[in-house]
Amino acid sequence: MKNGHFITRLLELGAGIYDPLLRLSVDERRFRGRLTELAELKGDEQVLDIGCGTGTLDLMLFKLLDNGSICGIDVSSEMVKQAKRKTQRSGCKINYKGGNAKELPYKSDVFDVVFTSLMYHHLTYEEKEETLKEIHRVLKLTGRYISAEFGPFPDDFFHRMFIRFTRSSGMLQGLYPPDLIEIAGFYVVQQMDGPLLGGHHPIIYRVLRRDT
Ligand SMILES: C[S@@+](CC[C@H](N)C(=O)[O-])C[C@H]1O[C@@H](n2cnc3c(N)ncnc32)[C@H](O)[C@@H]1O
Repeated sequence: MKNGHFITRLLELGAGIYDPLLRLSVDERRFRGRLTELAELKGDEQVLDIGCGTGTLDLMLFKLLDNGSICGIDVSSEMVKQAKRKTQRSGCKINYKGGNAKELPYKSDVFDVVFTSLMYHHLTYEEKEETLKEIHRVLKLTGRYISAEFGPFPDDFFHRMFIRFTRSSGMLQGLYPPDLIEIAGFYVVQQMDGPLLGGHHPIIYRVLRRDT
């Protein structure tokens, strides 16, 4: 990854220890279990995971599909490497590739379900707008977009410092901008609180559908 925000580059360097770190930060089974439930999979869906990281969610999704398929994309080549390694070890078939959320290398109207899990806060406001447009493009009219993203941070010293430190990284607009959802032609079907990440950062689940 040549470009990318500070936090994204840091994650790329730490791709090898991402899984144990996340396990320490959140009850992963519960966190990801809720995401898979929200997908309401029947077994034959075409699924896309944007910012797939090391692909843990995809391995869980694979077990729920009989005839469907899963694609995972991530801007970090190290993350993609980790995801491919885990997939090979587990014997699952998942199509991973490197690429940017704002220019998805997929045809229009092909996915039944699109996920972003803790990815969206890595993007600047403009990138969020472009990414939502891309998700809208690749999603079938009947499809659903499911996200797990940080909710509003508590107004405490730690979070004020955190936002200050990550101001130029996209984190400042990590909180899902609701106006963009409408602009991109989506509406919110379901929204619910998720677990706290690291005991501090609230996570919110959202299910979006295309309204155009
Ligand atoms: C916090 S990790 C989350 C990984 C995984 N989705 C999960 O739930 O564990 C964020 C991921 O988003 C990826 N990412 C950041 N910006 C991206 C972009 N513009 N396009 C695609 N992936 C991106 C990062 O490389 C990283 O793997």
